[in-house]
Amino acid sequence: MPTSSQSYPMSGGEDQHSYIHNSSYQKAAVDGIEEKTRQYILEKLDLLNLNPDLSTFTIADFGCSIGPNTFHAVQNIIDAVKRKHLKESQENSLVPLEFQVYFNDQPNNDFNTLFRSQPPSSQQEYFSVGVPGSFYGRVLPRNSIHIGYTSYTTHWLSKVPEHVCDKKSPAWNKSYIQCNNLIEEVTKAYKVQFTKDMSVFLKARAEELVPGGLMIALGQCLPDGVPMYETWSCIVKDTIGDCLLDMAISGLTTIEKIELFNLPVYFP
Ligand SMILES: C[S@@+](CC[C@H](N)C(=O)[O-])C[C@H]1O[C@@H](n2cnc3c(N)ncnc32)[C@H](O)[C@@H]1O
Repeated sequence: MPTSSQSYPMSGGEDQHSYIHNSSYQKAAVDGIEEKTRQYILEKLDLLNLNPDLSTFTIADFGCSIGPNTFHAVQNIIDAVKRKHLKESQENSLVPLEFQVYFNDQPNNDFNTLFRSQPPSSQQEYFSVGVPGSFYGRVLPRNSIHIGYTSYTTHWLSKVPEHVCDKKSPAWNKSYIQCNNLIEEVTKAYKVQFTKDMSVFLKARAEELVPGGLMIALGQCLPDGVPMYETWSCIVKDTIGDCLLDMAISGLTTIEKIELFNLPVYFP
């Protein structure tokens, strides 16, 4: 499976720097859509139409990282599908369901920690499969997924837009290290890359999902009219950029290197 050369998985392991202990911000968003997800599944999932003889229900989390968020999200989806299954079983005879969950992320994600930190098997209601590979392309067979899920992932672009590191381009991002909306041409270049990537992402998922399957996508966006440079997330990263410049001034790195460094991240 292809791995992008620009692949930056979250910090692995279980120590204080691990994503396990530094993902409560994302967890708050995952919790925030729990009820909406439940309602969406109850309303839109039509198990009878999907296949009345269905016995294995498949779920995929694209860009799962190392938990615990992915386990919460997956369990919430399973609980909702079970409720829907129970409801539909009262009117039609449906086969009991087993669940299979595909955990996808870049190959250099810490899959060992992910699977080691899963809920104990006595509490686990699903079979787990690791799927290494970039979600900017197919990672699963055609028509193999009933519910696809992704959260806090698609702001990671497949690559830094080329021209933002090119001094001769109007889209040159100078010594900034991110798209902070201060240079219009830079914003445009990032937006073009995001649009391309998102379209590849959706096309791949459309092929992997069964007809009648559902896709749930949660991500961070900017409210209309709010420029990136007014957000705390931007200010933090611009401050890191300023620290890098200070390091260049004190000879620890060079301005040229900083000018070639940009984060492949865009918030639509
Ligand atoms: C901020 S974490 C989100 C993890 C989890 N979904 C959550 O909500 O807590 C972003 C994850 O997306 C993964 N990711 C980024 N680009 C990816 C790609 N092209 N293919 C697969 N995973 C990707 C990263 O490796 C990382 O684990």
